[in-house]
Amino acid sequence: MSNSVRDKVAVVTGAGSGIGRRLAFELAKRGARLAVSDVDDIGLGETADRARALGAEVHTARLDVSDRAEVETYAAAVAAHYGVVHQIYNNAGISGGGQTVLEADWEVYDRTLAVNLFGVIHGTKAFLPHLIASGDGHVVNVSSLNGYLAQPTLSAYCASKFGVRGFTEALRTELLSERLPVRVTVVHPGGVKTNIATATLSQARDQGLAPTAAQLDRTRVYNDKLLKMPASQAARVIVDGVEAGAPRIRVGSDARTADRLVRLLPGLYPKLTAAVERKLFGVAGR
Ligand SMILES: NC(=O)c1ccc[n+]([C@@H]2O[C@H](COP(=O)([O-])OP(=O)(O)OC[C@H]3O[C@@H](n4cnc5c(N)ncnc54)[C@H](O)[C@@H]3O)[C@@H](O)[C@H]2O)c1
Repeated sequence: MSNSVRDKVAVVTGAGSGIGRRLAFELAKRGARLAVSDVDDIGLGETADRARALGAEVHTARLDVSDRAEVETYAAAVAAHYGVVHQIYNNAGISGGGQTVLEADWEVYDRTLAVNLFGVIHGTKAFLPHLIASGDGHVVNVSSLNGYLAQPTLSAYCASKFGVRGFTEALRTELLSERLPVRVTVVHPGGVKTNIATATLSQARDQGLAPTAAQLDRTRVYNDKLLKMPASQAARVIVDGVEAGAPRIRVGSDARTADRLVRLLPGLYPKLTAAVERKLFGVAGR
């Protein structure tokens, strides 16, 4: 098995924006063949055009990762198109954030878990037989620093991202114990400068809901203060980690600090997180 992505067929979900788009460019630059997808046709088209301009062969498809049947059909289509699939980057995600457990309605939990957790499970299960058949496979599942550190008003997101970590690490144990030729990586980005916080407001508006003043304020603080690293840099860190065969990639000093904090003070860190939140946003994000 070779860790290099050169000539590999790599699938990237949620490639129409942010980290997914930049992953596509980074993989293109390093000589991979791409299958990119998103629910956003326009963003996806731009990603595909720019990846082709970097010299990559690109297959594109509109795909909602929360739709199990769609993901299964898509996996078969990509395998038929290229004849082989080596890597899947299960990246598509939404923040689902901004409301406390008391405030959030069920739709927030249903949608966030459907996209962030089931999307990852769908992509992994649908592509795994193809990755095994390649003899040189890699599953790369995007969690978050919220895959180990919990924060107020992000309960659905944290549940989904802790879930991605659990699912991915369980998968790794299985593939290791069965000696199957697929590596497994879980990615924990810290704050990356993308559209993810702003997209939450558009999603609320699409559902006919006006964002609350607290949600608007929260989005502004996230965009101004927390989502700092350029997505191109995050993508480089991720593909470097994949090529190094890393089982776990923490992206950014915030992700590494949060990891150390949780391991050092597993029972106490929520008090610190609550205090930081009060300072940044007022009580529980308000
Ligand atoms: N930006 C950050 O600070 C950060 C931090 C930790 C983890 N992450 C994770 O990184 C991943 C990428 O997020 P991003 O920051 O680039 O956000 P982004 O909003 O810029 O990009 C996410 C992409 O996913 C797509 N998408 C949303 N729902 C989808 C669905 N059901 N099916 C297919 N595509 C869908 C969107 O259309 C968008 O193009 C997510 O899983 C996110 O949770 C981001």
